[in-house]
Amino acid sequence: MVSFFILQKHTEKDVYWGKETVPLAVNRYGDPQDRSSLEAPLAASHFQLVYVNPEGVEGKPDPVRTAMDVRETFGRMGMNDVETAALTVGGHSIGRAHGNGDPTNLGPEPAGADIKEQGFGWVQKNGGTGVNQITSGLEGAWTTNPDKWDHQYLDLLLNYEWESKKSPAGAWQWEPINLEEEKKPVDLGDPTKKARLMFTDADMAMAMDPEYRKISEKFYKDPKFFEDSFARAWFKLTHRTMGNKANYIGPWAPKEDLLWQGNVQPSKKKFNVEKVKKMIVASKLSNKDLIITAWDSARTYRRTDKRGGANGARIRLNPMKNWEANEPKRLSKVLKVLENIAKKTGASIADTIILAGSVGLEKAIKKGGFKVKVPFHPGRGDSTQAQTENRNFKWLEPLHDGFRNFVKSDYSVMPEELLLERASLMGLTAQEMTCLVGGMRVLGTNHESAKNKGVFTEKVGSLTNDFFLNLVDMKYIWKPTGKNSYDIIDRKTNKVKYTASRADLVFGSNSILRSYAEVYAQDDNKEKFVKDFVAIWTKIMNADRIESRKLN
Ligand code: HEM
Repeated sequence: MVSFFILQKHTEKDVYWGKETVPLAVNRYGDPQDRSSLEAPLAASHFQLVYVNPEGVEGKPDPVRTAMDVRETFGRMGMNDVETAALTVGGHSIGRAHGNGDPTNLGPEPAGADIKEQGFGWVQKNGGTGVNQITSGLEGAWTTNPDKWDHQYLDLLLNYEWESKKSPAGAWQWEPINLEEEKKPVDLGDPTKKARLMFTDADMAMAMDPEYRKISEKFYKDPKFFEDSFARAWFKLTHRTMGNKANYIGPWAPKEDLLWQGNVQPSKKKFNVEKVKKMIVASKLSNKDLIITAWDSARTYRRTDKRGGANGARIRLNPMKNWEANEPKRLSKVLKVLENIAKKTGASIADTIILAGSVGLEKAIKKGGFKVKVPFHPGRGDSTQAQTENRNFKWLEPLHDGFRNFVKSDYSVMPEELLLERASLMGLTAQEMTCLVGGMRVLGTNHESAKNKGVFTEKVGSLTNDFFLNLVDMKYIWKPTGKNSYDIIDRKTNKVKYTASRADLVFGSNSILRSYAEVYAQDDNKEKFVKDFVAIWTKIMNADRIESRKLN
């Protein structure tokens, strides 16, 4: 059988797609019986499938088991059971599946086909199209009139007996027993002939899983409820990657505030920036704490779906405040002080956190021998716990952050690849990533679990180019001491000077990253390094704000 909904053949290399090397492998589950053990941060049940295997888990029809995959996969898109059922029922109220023929005739998928094929569907060696088209390998339409969005799907799902059958292409599918002749859809090529009516294993899950069944029955009895549920779930599915409401344009954008949008009202309150800065300096919070808190609050922003970021100060709410990456104990102490300053000055907590980062950074720059102001743009608002849905926000948890030399577990992907993924999510170039890592290391902002890895300086807390200087210095050799740990040893004395992770060494071993590291190691580039660092820092601090397009 053929797989369907193949993602790009040439998948982006800075994204982790899962560790499988063959299509439809099942090694992304800790325990294949427990579908919630799907490896984080993956969402699809298989590499190359958008949702789940339409024939059933591991190609075996079993709607109750498939329901678990559907629940997990849609859950990781922030969908609850009602939304998931509405999407599946509504989505398959139109259209058909294609599997009428021999799958060995299939050529490469559209994205992998020759340029002359022009993406006109999935080419077959025997020229098969139309009636003989094969994509998923399942064959037939879901309803009698697959070109009309009607309510027949639920009638079929709930009022017929179904049997598991093989399609002409050899895929498992479900077909209704004793379906009346007039309810069979017409053949694509010859309207005088009848075609098959079929459901996938995931469709059957909408009747066989007890929770989905209750919802399907409710939809069947109350078409208005179904229509509203579908409209809302469809809008969510197609707009989740647009971030919050501030990103919408045009007259059709709904006025209603939807919880999943993660909206934050901007703060219009004026406050005295210099006064807040002075209070932060007087607070005795360490530079390191100021910088880390601003970084942690901003680093969740993902350019891919415009979620996360510092606006809203959600770092003080659940689930963020308990994330291991945020070092909860340290965080709560810092937040107590910053929240108090915000309260006294009228600044939003979100602005105070970012301003604290600027204060910390300006002090570190001064200690390094330069004077550079860190730009600050107020206007962030504070969101409430009620505006912060756990099931949507929990997926933003940073399971790794190479900028703080942090990896939560021992993943199958190398720490330097994870660093690249985060940099890509943040929209950083290779040069920006290099500059930021070098600066963060000497600022001493490593996660507590990383200790001093990569901190190649004697002046921790001063923004200097020492990381690069020592990284490219040939007086040292590097020795592995564990899976993700190395000692940097003086060739002459044989003494251990520093320790490092793979997310440090990659800046010496990769030729492109090394070229940037060498630029920043230059004696005459010390100031350039500081200025570049400030510019990139500012970009991250403002990344989640629509106004930032003007600010950066
Ligand atoms: C629950 C998991 C889902 C599974 C396993 C699944 C599976 C499939 C399969 C096997 C096909 C046939 C592809 C082909 O052979 O050409 C298909 C087509 C389709 N699906 Fe889904 N699907 C799922 C969810 C959805 C959702 C959420 C929507 C939209 C809200 C949707 C909308 C459609 C439509 C409109 C078609 C027809 C395309 C056409 O007529 O060519 N599906 N789906």
